[in-house]
Amino acid sequence: MPLGGNRLSSSSSKKSRRRQKPSAAASETTALVNSSTRTIQSVYDISRKVFAVARPGFLPPKGSVAELSRFLNDLTLQDVGLDANMPFFRADAQGHPKVTYLHFADTPKFTVGVFCLPRSAVIPLHNHPGMTVFSKILLGSMHITSYDWVKPQAASGATATTTQEAGAQLAQLKAEHEYDASSKTMVLYPEEGGNLHRFIATTPCAVLDVMGPPYRRDQGRDCSYYNAVAAPGGDGQYAWLREVPCTFDLDAFSMRPRIRE
Ligand SMILES: [Fe+2]
Repeated sequence: MPLGGNRLSSSSSKKSRRRQKPSAAASETTALVNSSTRTIQSVYDISRKVFAVARPGFLPPKGSVAELSRFLNDLTLQDVGLDANMPFFRADAQGHPKVTYLHFADTPKFTVGVFCLPRSAVIPLHNHPGMTVFSKILLGSMHITSYDWVKPQAASGATATTTQEAGAQLAQLKAEHEYDASSKTMVLYPEEGGNLHRFIATTPCAVLDVMGPPYRRDQGRDCSYYNAVAAPGGDGQYAWLREVPCTFDLDAFSMRPRIRE
């Protein structure tokens, strides 16, 4: 998901306020921040290997994919300095379950961040053009629906998948499941693994994303959003996806960990 047009704030002012009034709670928080910085540094270091030669459409080395997946498998919400009682996991004063993105690292090759969703929040169906994305749920559970585009040659000959709807493109269902914090790291690739997905929070939840190469609007790789309509006769395994204007709004905050690059 891109962050264009959203608020990007720093948490540093809150940290400095905590330093002015030392307390047991403040000490705990500082320790958590330090340990979470080490964790994010490890994610960053492994991701640097995964995305060393990242360019649109590239496939990362299997060994480094496995290494990052293993590391993320064991990650907890506390490991990255977050807590289920934080306001990011509650609806706002108007009762709206707004999504928050906490931004941890950003390089020309990849980004690291955590999406926080109150119960019932939705990240609508969107794509990741030419990208590889690692997603690990750190808190709660969510319903994920994902698709991959059907290549034109793969669709030919299949009646249920060749009735082209104007302006829509055929996609094959990859996953339609409930996932939670016990689920393993999910990895999607440029052309497989569910490159298009939608998240619906069934409880307050958090998902850490490592993705690369980052969206680049000026290179024609912006994030696009879609409506899905089941393809007739496709046994629910195919859908026509039609691009729709983006109505998704989220808050974004920079966490600014001190990462060694
Ligand atoms: Fe996504």
